[in-house]
Amino acid sequence: MPHDLFTADNTYQPSNTATITRFQLTADQSIQKRSLGKTGIMVTPIGLGVMQFSGGGSSVFNVAFPDLSQETKSAIVRAALEGGINWFDTAEMYGLGRSENSLAHALKAAGKADGEVVVATKWLPLFRMAGHIKRSIHNRLRFLQGYSVGLYMVHQPWGFSSPEAEMDVMADLVEVGHIRSIGVSNFSADRMRRAYQALEKRGLPLAANQMEYSLLNRKIETDGVLAVAKELGVTIIAYTPLANGLLSGVYHKNPDLLLSKPRFWRAKIERHIGRTRPLIEALDEIAGRYQVTPAQVALNWVINFQGESVVAIPGASKIYQAEEAAGAMSFRLLDGDLTRLDELSRDYR
Ligand SMILES: NC(=O)c1ccc[n+]([C@@H]2O[C@H](COP(=O)([O-])OP(=O)(O)OC[C@H]3O[C@@H](n4cnc5c(N)ncnc54)[C@H](OP(=O)(O)O)[C@@H]3O)[C@@H](O)[C@H]2O)c1
Repeated sequence: MPHDLFTADNTYQPSNTATITRFQLTADQSIQKRSLGKTGIMVTPIGLGVMQFSGGGSSVFNVAFPDLSQETKSAIVRAALEGGINWFDTAEMYGLGRSENSLAHALKAAGKADGEVVVATKWLPLFRMAGHIKRSIHNRLRFLQGYSVGLYMVHQPWGFSSPEAEMDVMADLVEVGHIRSIGVSNFSADRMRRAYQALEKRGLPLAANQMEYSLLNRKIETDGVLAVAKELGVTIIAYTPLANGLLSGVYHKNPDLLLSKPRFWRAKIERHIGRTRPLIEALDEIAGRYQVTPAQVALNWVINFQGESVVAIPGASKIYQAEEAAGAMSFRLLDGDLTRLDELSRDYR
């Protein structure tokens, strides 16, 4: 990214004479971290999602993902760290330990000690009762090879137990020191409030609800999830913030790229290509003015439009994608641009 166009007072004078104010760039310390809920665990506005590290096995939990070499995974993680990202999102469901284990290898290769990074992972509740959380945590810790669990989430609202029972077991794990904080994912507003209240009784905060949120999926703004999260001080962790890469504009410019995608992902993206063209054109135009990429503008909108309530976890299967993810924290869209993108994407609420 061309930082040289910026003056010492942190402004950029593009050819069209508008002045763009930016955060101080490049150094890790200059990226303003945010607390995960009321936990005081500080994370950068962008973390790296490593679901993309799930591939390589033959089960249903592996086949949808590319089989990346450990070398590539390590390079992706290193690029994220070098760009200032301080946390990573993985899950049991991502290859049943494959993603967690690859992440641990990559962090080790990058020379990161536990405590220098935050690892978020998730319990898979499929066909399971809350009591299983206690057994599952030992596998998580084994796959993470010495990296502690900064945030442990219930991945889906699918469990056979109530959210109260799940939160009770999670609270036990905090008390014995197996995890630092507790979150949920894909929980409705009501279910999130129940989880919050159950933890409140144990004197613990609900750190986060991980939900799909992007310029192409703004459902949490209208179904009560975002409003309740703000009311309770629960962080929204936005997953799929690039709409599976669609918001980068690469598929609009070169639809042939979709041919290499598995059928499920291709269909998901193809559905939206036509109707998102005006949005993509705006992302492109804004990106040109800020000297960044459309993907970075899309990510910047996610982490700034709702103030500090939302952090995002873009995924990456290539090194440049991790670099771009980190670089999306190096500037701040002007209010006028945030609003313009809001208006262009209102249909997706
Ligand atoms: N809690 C949940 O239920 C849940 C659900 C889904 C995901 N997640 C988490 O959220 C993370 C991100 O979500 P996601 O992977 O579904 O969606 P995403 O971040 O919107 O899309 C990631 C994909 O977009 C493409 N991409 C990324 N950066 C790009 C760039 N700069 N330019 C062009 N293309 C780019 C890559 O596709 P290619 O690989 O094809 O190049 C990448 O694999 C996951 O890794 C996972 O940790 C959580």
